[in-house]
Amino acid sequence: MSQPHRKLTGRVVIATHNAGKLREMRELLAPYGIEAVSAGELGLGEPDETGDTFIANAQIKAEAAAQAARLPAFADDSGLCVDALGGDPGLYSARWAREAGDFPAAMANVHELMHAKGAISGAQRRAHFVSALAIAWPDGHLETFEGKVFGAIVWPPRGDLGFGYDPFFQPDGHARTFGEMSAQEKHGIPADGSQALSHRARAFQSLAKACLG
Ligand code: IMP
Repeated sequence: MSQPHRKLTGRVVIATHNAGKLREMRELLAPYGIEAVSAGELGLGEPDETGDTFIANAQIKAEAAAQAARLPAFADDSGLCVDALGGDPGLYSARWAREAGDFPAAMANVHELMHAKGAISGAQRRAHFVSALAIAWPDGHLETFEGKVFGAIVWPPRGDLGFGYDPFFQPDGHARTFGEMSAQEKHGIPADGSQALSHRARAFQSLAKACLG
């Protein structure tokens, strides 16, 4: 039998040192009356992301922050998985961008690798974004959630909204890339309870249903 979910109340540590993620997570949690402090504000370190899944890495970050702060902690891990590259850059999406120098260079590298594999059109251009979210409590309780969005890699990249690999990815059922969509369209949580679009918003919808409100 599965364990009941645990509700999140009061104060939570957001286990990220990334200002953009912190802002987005604070915005998502605010309507539920959750007060968010960041790992950076508490002076917590950053653990090595040694997991071999998105969930495992989110868990490592959440558990490290929960133990250090003695508060519930919320963490995420995410990436872009390209079918023609066996799921790369996947867990290493941020690292590929760091090593390439910037996101335009990282997208060009991914495009070139896809081209070398003959992944030029249609079904060969399939990809998906994944977001894993974890909440860890100081007593060891853990909740994890995952959201995905499927679509296609486009070349050249289009749009200058959003961040990261957004201009490179067109979600199924849409004629525009994430880079051409407003934050509300990409990350917004629909008030009517229908499914959100982005991987992160979808993971958050599952988390909210189980652990908030
Ligand atoms: P991490 O979750 O901090 O390990 O980083 C994930 C990597 O995937 C970063 O390089 C992000 O820019 C990229 N990524 C994750 N989600 C998105 C998204 O919604 N749009 C564009 N890039 C993303």
